[in-house]
Amino acid sequence: MHVTFRQLAIFNVVAEKLSFTEAANTLHLTQPAVSVQIKRLEDSVGLPLFEQLGKKIFLTAAGKELLHYSRNIFRELDEAGDMFSQMQDISRGTLSVSVATTASSFATRMVSAFLKRYPEATVKLDVTNRGTLIRQLENNEKDIVIMGKPPEHMDLVGEAFMKNPLVVIAPPDHPLAGKKQISISTLQYEPFVVREPASGTRAAMERLFGWCRISPAIHVEIADNEAIKEAVAAGLGLSVVSRHTLELDLQAGRVVTLDVEHFPIARNWYLAYRRGKRLSPIALAFKALVFEQAPRLAKLLSS
Ligand code: PGA
Repeated sequence: MHVTFRQLAIFNVVAEKLSFTEAANTLHLTQPAVSVQIKRLEDSVGLPLFEQLGKKIFLTAAGKELLHYSRNIFRELDEAGDMFSQMQDISRGTLSVSVATTASSFATRMVSAFLKRYPEATVKLDVTNRGTLIRQLENNEKDIVIMGKPPEHMDLVGEAFMKNPLVVIAPPDHPLAGKKQISISTLQYEPFVVREPASGTRAAMERLFGWCRISPAIHVEIADNEAIKEAVAAGLGLSVVSRHTLELDLQAGRVVTLDVEHFPIARNWYLAYRRGKRLSPIALAFKALVFEQAPRLAKLLSS
């Protein structure tokens, strides 16, 4: 099969836009020039890559297959380019890290320490939930991921570097505030504000509640820890959040933690990446810094 990178690059844009006109505009080419390249590509593949149904174009089955391979080819090419530039000079490389929503409370400090050490490096930081992190690991999209327990069904390297205690929070005037050794069954009668279903915090909370056979009513679901704390402070319900997200809220007295049986839930933060992945020098430098900074940060976040 004789295919050029240029044809694949054009194909990727057409497949993404599903429009020859938009692809031509994006690539600063004429539409006939784009069509010619796609036609040549179809001749090499021996199958049509797009089909027109009504006014819309769609990828054919062969087009979908080619898109999968061609994205991998460009990703690998990017990785090679990154690796070569980083091999020349770590301090000017680009680090691509993705962290769980909850980990953003400390990950930004780690990135800031990293950039102090390597001021000319570039860090692309993505903050997302556990579900997306797993997909990013599957697609090998990031250098390193920071998450709660890495999924067991994947062949990953997961290295724990810091504890992540999950606690129950309430508004300061809640009747349970200040009570000692509250039985977990008491929570059955409390409304809860929870994270979205793909959140690791939510999954850990549901595991514990399931194990204790309680199912408190969910009043509000929010995909953001800051908004959850606001909702709790406003009296919308209790919530389970990482202790590491509470540094300022506890100091300001916006929320309090409750002394509930089986809490804090003991979780850990992990650095994760696909087994067999060749960490770039900049990723290795970041990994070393995470382990170096973790003890100090853990103390700070728990104070
Ligand atoms: P989050 O946290 O997905 O709830 O933000 C990550 C985890 O605890 O696994």
